[in-house]
Amino acid sequence: MEENLKIPAHVALILDGNGRWAKKRGLPRQMGHKKGCETVEQIVEDAARLGIQYLTVYGFSTENWKRPKEEVDTIMSLLKAYLLEAIDTMERDNVRLCFMGDMSVLNDELKALVDHCNEISAKLDGCQCNICINYGGRAEIVQAARRFAADCANGNCSPEDLTEETFETYLYSQGIPSPELLIRPGGEQRLSNFLLWQCAYSEFYYTDVLWPDFSKEELQKAILAFQRRNRRFGGLS
Ligand code: IPE
Ligand code: IPE
Ligand code: MG
Repeated sequence: MEENLKIPAHVALILDGNGRWAKKRGLPRQMGHKKGCETVEQIVEDAARLGIQYLTVYGFSTENWKRPKEEVDTIMSLLKAYLLEAIDTMERDNVRLCFMGDMSVLNDELKALVDHCNEISAKLDGCQCNICINYGGRAEIVQAARRFAADCANGNCSPEDLTEETFETYLYSQGIPSPELLIRPGGEQRLSNFLLWQCAYSEFYYTDVLWPDFSKEELQKAILAFQRRNRRFGGLS
């Protein structure tokens, strides 16, 4: 990595290709999710070492409930195993785990694990990894609009108070800078309802590598590509 070039403070990652990874090997899709989880553990560690301050990973979308129950159950049990492991390692690695999405539909056991991770994170100051579960970009914007409307109805604010800055305080990503770089492995070139508001000026990087095969080298390749981009934000370079 060229040291004089900027490491993005916030990288967003769409985990994709678990199912195809398994299919290529004649394995059930579930095995792809299992390997994908191991890759998440490794990449969180690598990202922290590279100096990335925020890593936001898309783990389960509001649309992924359309999948067969068996697959959804597998993903939820992998999430449980991931959180149990994280609870043992977060302090050692100084990694804060935070969550984005509507957690209210998770089972009580998962909700308790999420709370436990949040408690540990509050004591740490290292890399922040945002895990997006039951997350949808549209749902995030709608819940923000609802909460702002409720604050108006309660007399706490009025419609004129709404600016881009105040609206952001109602998003799950409140207080976090927008991702400079969005990486999507797995070959698809779409957002799939991820971070619709936050990605307004993100640099997109796509790769055909399937998520379970993603590695530190792939992350470095994406960062290198990012460092060569000319970001103009509507102005002139
Ligand atoms: C990503 O892999 C994991 C989730 C969306 C939960 P997929 O399961 O979408 O894998 P493909 O796209 O079918 O290969
Ligand atoms: C996006 O992957 C959602 C997550 C990675 C959690 P999908 O596999 O669900 O996206 P589509 O269906 O290909 O757009
Ligand atoms: Mg997919």
